[in-house]
Amino acid sequence: MSSIAPSTADKQNVIIFDTTLRDGEQSAGASMTYDEKLAVAELLDDMGVDVIEAGFPIASNGDFEAVAEIARRSKRAVIAGLARAITADIARCGEAVKFSARPRIHTFVSTSPIHLQFQMKKSLDQVIEIINATVAQARNLVDDVEWSAMDATRTPIDDLCRCVEAAIRCGATTINLPDTVGYATPAEYEAMFRNVITRVPGADKVIFSAHCHDDLGLSTANSLAALAGGARQIECTINGLGERAGNAALEEIVMAIRTRGDVMPYQTNIKTPMLVQASKLVAAVSGFAVQYNKAIVGKNAFAHESGIHQDGMLKNAETYEIMRPEDVGVRETSLVMGKHSGRHAFREKLIELGYELGENALQDAFNRFKDLADRKKLVYDEDIEALVENEIAHAGERVRVMALTVIAGTGGPQKAIITMDVDGRHETREATGSGPVDATFNAIKAIWPHEAKLVLYQVHAVTEGTDAQAEVSVRLEESGRIATGRGTDVDTLVSSARAYVSALNKLTVRRQKGAAEDLAEKIRVNDRI
Ligand code: KIV
Ligand code: ZN
Repeated sequence: MSSIAPSTADKQNVIIFDTTLRDGEQSAGASMTYDEKLAVAELLDDMGVDVIEAGFPIASNGDFEAVAEIARRSKRAVIAGLARAITADIARCGEAVKFSARPRIHTFVSTSPIHLQFQMKKSLDQVIEIINATVAQARNLVDDVEWSAMDATRTPIDDLCRCVEAAIRCGATTINLPDTVGYATPAEYEAMFRNVITRVPGADKVIFSAHCHDDLGLSTANSLAALAGGARQIECTINGLGERAGNAALEEIVMAIRTRGDVMPYQTNIKTPMLVQASKLVAAVSGFAVQYNKAIVGKNAFAHESGIHQDGMLKNAETYEIMRPEDVGVRETSLVMGKHSGRHAFREKLIELGYELGENALQDAFNRFKDLADRKKLVYDEDIEALVENEIAHAGERVRVMALTVIAGTGGPQKAIITMDVDGRHETREATGSGPVDATFNAIKAIWPHEAKLVLYQVHAVTEGTDAQAEVSVRLEESGRIATGRGTDVDTLVSSARAYVSALNKLTVRRQKGAAEDLAEKIRVNDRI
């Protein structure tokens, strides 16, 4: 690239703190299963994320177990857990992260007048007492303690400085000043960091951290402005997943730092060619699809449609491209194989795409590939990926879709006949509905009665063309529990049925785990009495 970038030696390191599994998972409808959380954490660790916020251990036993297992399996990353400024939260968090070689407790309390008055019903002096007690408690459990001033950007600077000073005095090693409600502008956010760092005694001994929400679409700009103000850690999520409008997107922060090294003399440890893979995994497990024009990881981020752009690109890619697609992990779409390809070639292709399956899983995936190659003229890498992800997503499910016939068209009513395997027994039912999808879901309900409500139904084409596979995401809600299922097939209705049944399977597992957790909690409470 043409810019004159400072050499690596002149660049300061920025700690990348990923909170996809905590703030991201907290966003309405994005809940992930235990296995999905482990898979995301492993990828983040391999990608070079410095700190992984793995969850909120006090929130549920499920959260606790996931944080503890991520901590056990962690390789290079620091594993953080979130805790309110409450003794029981901090103790539970310490229990979960202690399995990591590098554990961190991240504790937070609100500091802004509006939060203190309406939420906490406490004075600033009382909050400072709480900071003293809880940071000291956390510091007794681990050496690495992060303290966050919730709603920092709406806190008067004098109050904020008093709170930060207390946290540092009690042993916090990282101070996070979040823009919790996504209200700050870049200039304000930069000035806040500069002010606090200049005024608070001991500020030079700790790392300052930015944590931005995207309510005004300013989260990336604010995070980068914080670096200019002295922050050296940025909290972000893959695809910008997170509460409300989301958090700052990791891929945007990292690529902005990398691409504009001429004006931002920083570096990160992120292996950027893994960004697209991380984006795809998080989109798949959260059920939140990435918009086509999303910066860095959107499907169109490197597509050049207009004639003048294409002409320039052919002459020199730098005319319209500021990053190379391969630097973020975008691969040339390649035609892979057809129906004559053998098992060996299929296995080689899977290895190239990063999948290593056991013998049985490989055979199942190969059978589905053959089936797909019979129905679809051109089979691309994306098709193979979707197929394998589909196998992984449905492995171990108690109930499966075996066959589906749908009668649709202008005439109506639309009708679906479905056969499902329920614990090894085949059952067939038919149902009508307003539209083929409704009829299909009604037929499923006839075999598997339930009270779950459909809260999201989304269809995406895996590749181009009318014979493309359709990837369907279905999110169901039942008594406050949410589960997302996915299904892929060249037939959109088969994908829909698979996604719906997959979500039902997950809900059942969650319901059973929930009942076990309720019982365990009752026993714990009785023990305490
Ligand atoms: O947005 C926020 O303030 C948070 C804190 C818990 C760090 O997520
Ligand atoms: Zn947040």
